[in-house]
This record gives sequence, structure tokens and C-alpha cells, in this order.
Amino acid sequence: MTEQKATNIAWHLGHVTREERALLMRQNPCCIWLTGLSASGKSTIAMALEQVLIQRGHAAYVLDGDNVRHGLNKNLGFSPDDRAENIRRIGEVARLFCDAGLIVITAFISPYREDRQKARALIAPDDFIEVFADAPINVCASRDPKGLYEKAMRGEVKSFTGVSPDAPYEPPLNPEIHLLTGQISVPECVSAILDYLVQQGILHAR
Ligand code: ADX
Repeated sequence: MTEQKATNIAWHLGHVTREERALLMRQNPCCIWLTGLSASGKSTIAMALEQVLIQRGHAAYVLDGDNVRHGLNKNLGFSPDDRAENIRRIGEVARLFCDAGLIVITAFISPYREDRQKARALIAPDDFIEVFADAPINVCASRDPKGLYEKAMRGEVKSFTGVSPDAPYEPPLNPEIHLLTGQISVPECVSAILDYLVQQGILHAR
């Protein structure tokens, strides 16, 4: 639990409820949380899903690991503590965005179950849709879009998820959606997520 540093602070309750904002946006806000190894397809699926949702008239927004680490989380590295803080902040941002009425899509390795569980609890368990982008590490390593697997195997990148012994990936035990991203295409992954959202009544069928 992150320490509360500030004292003498009070919560100010606004006059607009989350429900009123959701009604204004004509959608059910939720967080679609993609987790998986680097190069498992999280960002590509997230961006493609965001585009389809926007085209259908939904207000959706992607929070992407590499992008967020350029700004909000630029002071964090890849130690377990820094990763936990990375995910804690994204959980908080996703919660605010859901409160504002958005459909949030996150694309972070988020390797630790405990950190993902905390994000789920923070956002509200029913609004948190965990999507496991599951590709074998050899497939991710063969894609290696940033050349990081090769560097990690040579020891030039430290604590690299799935490669370095100090950086394990803990797969979800019970994700809402399990995508075999080494076998199925990006459009198929997007369709599977859309189908789930319709089944759950979050989106309307078209
Ligand atoms: S997380 O583990 O804290 O969730 P996050 O998704 O934000 O990770 O960032 C992962 C991205 O950072 C990878 O896709 C990769 O491009 C880059 N990266 C750089 N160093 C590492 C590392 N040691 N382990 C994993 N990813 C790394």
C-alpha cells in the first residue's frame, strides 16, 4: 500500500454522479485491461479496438505502457516496486477515466497478479475486464519489434520480463477474455473483445 503523505486533506463531493456522466456519454464505462508479455500484441490490439469503438461512436481511450512511461511514469523503471507503482498509477488513472465516462483500454505487461488484482479492486471488479494476450515467449521473441528480446538474451537489457530470472510473468488465472495472440489475427482479437462487451451488455449489438 502506498503511503499517504499529505495530511489535512478532505474529499470534495461533486454535484454530478458517475451515472449522470455515463448517461451523457451514452455508454457503460469500463476498463479493458490487456496483460501479456512484451510483443504479445497488447498495444496493437488496444489501438485497433480503440479505433473500432470510436468509429462506433464510443468515447474510448488507450493507456499504453511505452507511451505512459514517456510522461506520467517517466521516473519509473522495471524493478518489481517500480512496476507495482506503474500499475498503481494506471489503475488510478483508469479509475478517473471510467468515472469521467470513458471506455479505457490499458496495454501494460502488468506481470504481477497482485498488482492487477489491486487495479481491479480500485476500478470496481465488475468494470474491470482482464484480457490475457497469450503468446508463447518464442513467438514474442521472434517478433521482437524493438530488438529488446535479443538485447535481453545478450544481457544488455536487465530485468526483462519472461527472459531474466528476476522478472517473471504471472499469467492470469481467470481472465475474462483469453486471446491466443500467437494464433489468431488482430481483427479476430478485436472481435472477441467486442463480442464479450456485447454479451455483458456494455455495448449494444450491431
Ligand atoms: S510493466 O511491467 O511495468 O507493466 P510496461 O508495460 O509499462 O511494463 O512497459 C513495458 C515496455 O517497456 C515493453 O513493451 C518494452 O518495450 C519496454 N521495456 C524496456 N525495458 C523492459 C524490461 N526490462 N522489461 C519489460 N519491458 C521493458
